[in-house]
Amino acid sequence: MSDPVLKVENINVYYGSIHAIKGISFEVYEGEIVTLIGANGAGKSTTLNTISGLLHPATGSVSFLGESLAKVQPHKIVEKGLAQVPEGRRVFAQMTVQENLEMGAYTQTGGLAEDLDKVYTLFPRLKERMHQTAGTLSGGEQQMLAMGRALMSRPKLLMLDEPSMGLAPILVEQIFDIIADLHRTGATILLVEQNAQMALSIASRGYVMETGKIVTTGTGEELLASEAVRKAYLGG
Ligand SMILES: Nc1ncnc2c1ncn2[C@@H]1O[C@H](COP(=O)(O)OP(=O)(O)OP(=O)(O)O)[C@@H](O)[C@H]1O
Ligand SMILES: [Mg+2]
Repeated sequence: MSDPVLKVENINVYYGSIHAIKGISFEVYEGEIVTLIGANGAGKSTTLNTISGLLHPATGSVSFLGESLAKVQPHKIVEKGLAQVPEGRRVFAQMTVQENLEMGAYTQTGGLAEDLDKVYTLFPRLKERMHQTAGTLSGGEQQMLAMGRALMSRPKLLMLDEPSMGLAPILVEQIFDIIADLHRTGATILLVEQNAQMALSIASRGYVMETGKIVTTGTGEELLASEAVRKAYLGG
């Protein structure tokens, strides 16, 4: 197997005296959708925020494309091709849809029109609303915009933190369809979800987190079929 795009090795992360991440390790290979699932407070967002450089591990290492990220500033990490769509989307409310997308392309020197075109093809709803201010979009549309904005940086790894949060079931399906489409076109994705059923159904592999540790791992199919995972996350 080739080298992983992302390699997380035995990281420990603290918030003051709270030991939030307790020695977790995992990898993401090119072309995979890997999902981290787990209950509220398991440490999923903390893990993503550590990878993107917003938090620092007390011990352990994160490497992206074979390079340690230990001393790399978050904006440099984005330039290297690692994009994160944070929990709760956070679009620029006062800016239009198109301005938000253009902000996402700040790491790029050319190809803006082409990149906008790709995002608008993926999200026709955003195209219809390109001049609307982002704060007036529905929750689902804001999620689409946050994902579109991340894609504008042409990421080599896209990290999504609970893209289905707070969305109606029909929109959850649409968002997951789009994630599966991105995967089919070759994107490499690290997906954090509480919606274990949906996440595992599109994932190549998954890791189950509980109170700061990885307790189970397997292919999406294996985890969907696992008795322990079913009991804990899939309603029996
Ligand atoms: N800024 C913070 N200060 C102190 N403790 C924090 C902070 N952020 C998170 N924690 C704690 O770290 C643990 C992991 O939180 P985290 O947000 O990573 O969980 P999560 O798996 O993303 O949960 P959720 O599904 O609710 O988003 C929790 O116990 C939480 O209370
Ligand atoms: Mg979270």
